[in-house]
Amino acid sequence: MPIEKILILGGTAEAAELAARLVAQGGAEVTTSLAGRTKEPAPLAGAVRIGGFGGVEGLAAYLSANGISRVIDATHPFATRISQNAQAACALANVPLEVVRRSVWRREPGDRWVEVDTLAAAAEALPVGATVFLALGRQYIAAFAGRTDCRFVVRMIDPPLDALPLRDAIVILGKASADPDAERALFANHSITCLVARNSGGAAGHGKIAAARQMGIDVVIVGRPAP
Ligand SMILES: NC(=O)c1ccc[n+]([C@@H]2O[C@H](COP(=O)([O-])OP(=O)(O)OC[C@H]3O[C@@H](n4cnc5c(N)ncnc54)[C@H](OP(=O)(O)O)[C@@H]3O)[C@@H](O)[C@H]2O)c1
Repeated sequence: MPIEKILILGGTAEAAELAARLVAQGGAEVTTSLAGRTKEPAPLAGAVRIGGFGGVEGLAAYLSANGISRVIDATHPFATRISQNAQAACALANVPLEVVRRSVWRREPGDRWVEVDTLAAAAEALPVGATVFLALGRQYIAAFAGRTDCRFVVRMIDPPLDALPLRDAIVILGKASADPDAERALFANHSITCLVARNSGGAAGHGKIAAARQMGIDVVIVGRPAP
């Protein structure tokens, strides 16, 4: 029987866990694909390829050229383009597709959430004069440029290449923590009064949500795009 060749569309903690599990199981060649957004991605089990495929046709061609027998889309729930591309490319190349999607975070007692649908609405919802923790990638920061009354603390994995488009902001380098204690210490250090996050779901990023609840911090939470 020909060996199964699995392509995981990754970039998430869940994708990394899945690759580790499938490699440990054996019996399949496992490759994880990353977009290449992070300079030094954490090591992954199995093979890794990095960079865009060149749209639907590029991905379909990659699947055929590499004899991929199964695709697992374990990308971030806000990474909608690659998920749409995967659907179309797998149909074109006649390769089965599975989607692994985290469930959303649900509001719990003590949460001080304002739920919005867009980053523009999130910017509008910030309390006047707030000290805001932006748990967002660099491509999402510009939406907050108009809130010159607020102070921003922006967490990023890699240092930004250009100055941020915010009047008063500092950048801290690092990843989200699953541990509320670590996030609480960070919020206290920076006197954070408001958190902005997208409803990504999953355990890896939940520390900040739990920390905000424990500290009574306002959270402006951006809902997921339609699947
Ligand atoms: N969006 C987020 O907030 C977020 C957060 C954490 C991790 N991530 C991870 O970062 C990656 C990029 O996110 P995004 O929001 O920029 O995605 P996106 O808007 O859905 O995708 C934009 C383009 O990037 C390329 N791409 C995306 N994911 C890829 C992958 N896993 N392997 C190869 N190419 C990929 C594709 O280029 P081509 O069309 O050229 O193939 C895609 O058309 C995703 O893999 C996602 O899992 C995203």
